Amino acid sequence: MNHEERLVSARAEPPELAEDVSLRPRYLRDYIGQETLKENLFIALTAAQSRQEPVDHILFHGFPGLGKTTLAYIIANEMGANIKVTSGPVIEKAGDLAAILTSLQEGDILFIDEIHRLNHVVEEILYPAMEDYELDLIIGQGPGAKSVKMSLPRFTLVGATTRTGLLTPPLRDRFGVILRLEYYQPDELVRIVKRSAQMLKIAMDDAGAEELGRRSRGTPRIANRLLKRVRDYAEVRANGRVSRQVARQALAMLKVDELGLDDMDQRILLTIIDKFQGGPLGLDTLAAVVCEERNTLEDVYEPFLIQSGFLLRTPRGRMVTAAAYEHFGRPLTNSPNQAMLFGEREAGNK
Ligand code: ADE
Repeated sequence: MNHEERLVSARAEPPELAEDVSLRPRYLRDYIGQETLKENLFIALTAAQSRQEPVDHILFHGFPGLGKTTLAYIIANEMGANIKVTSGPVIEKAGDLAAILTSLQEGDILFIDEIHRLNHVVEEILYPAMEDYELDLIIGQGPGAKSVKMSLPRFTLVGATTRTGLLTPPLRDRFGVILRLEYYQPDELVRIVKRSAQMLKIAMDDAGAEELGRRSRGTPRIANRLLKRVRDYAEVRANGRVSRQVARQALAMLKVDELGLDDMDQRILLTIIDKFQGGPLGLDTLAAVVCEERNTLEDVYEPFLIQSGFLLRTPRGRMVTAAAYEHFGRPLTNSPNQAMLFGEREAGNK
């Protein structure tokens, strides 16, 4: 299955964007979770407002679906500013970025998603624009080429990336505020699901919300997506109300397990347990066996499995943990790496 089609994929999908946008909190006070980040952001925004200046350039990093785009829109709303939205791979040429920059007005927010995917020619235009609000363009080629300088209005660049490690140091250094989004706690996801259910007029009791929050892989986008699928199930197979039982039945049908692992997650872990005695095995081997791309495994599937304590990236390759054996009810005695797995767990508990 293509990861874009996964129910628990954290990637945004165009048909859902319209509804997602309406579920997004518009102001910081309505935003649930990311408490430390919100506090830092609040201080940066309030200080800039009281100085009547645009806020410093802000970089958000974190896994897909955690709210980077939502926060960019919140910044614009809180600052009473316009926002222009684009993404790294869309800006192909220096001229594309120049067109965007020259269309900005004082105080505007420019949001560049997947900013680590900007090409280096475009990225170099961004440096003086961020630092001195200056556009340096070379027009033409060869001996006739001319350098043109233009001043730009003071704007705020908001960048988003899944991994700061992918950003070049000169670009990263030009952000005044760098904020990391964490996976959400189950109780925060329960509150998000309840808020969304209210907005979508879905009847749901606390136990139904609790079930959904717990199975959403720490990710609001997944929570909202599951909520909509569970609503469909409740309307067709139950009386339209999402109770714990209805949520459980719907999620079982959707092959989302107790902890929110979907069939691909399960396949990855069970492959390592059943075919490779718990690992270690190389990422390329794993990719070949589960028929998925290496990058997709790394960016989409592994982070949550690692965060949940089911998977380890070791110098010798990927390994599952004792917790994964327990989750699937597999006896640990099957694993020649048993001692090592227990050792890892004990080390992790210290
Ligand atoms: N919807 C999606 N993410 C949210 C969040 N963090 N807070 C409130 N509603 C949300």
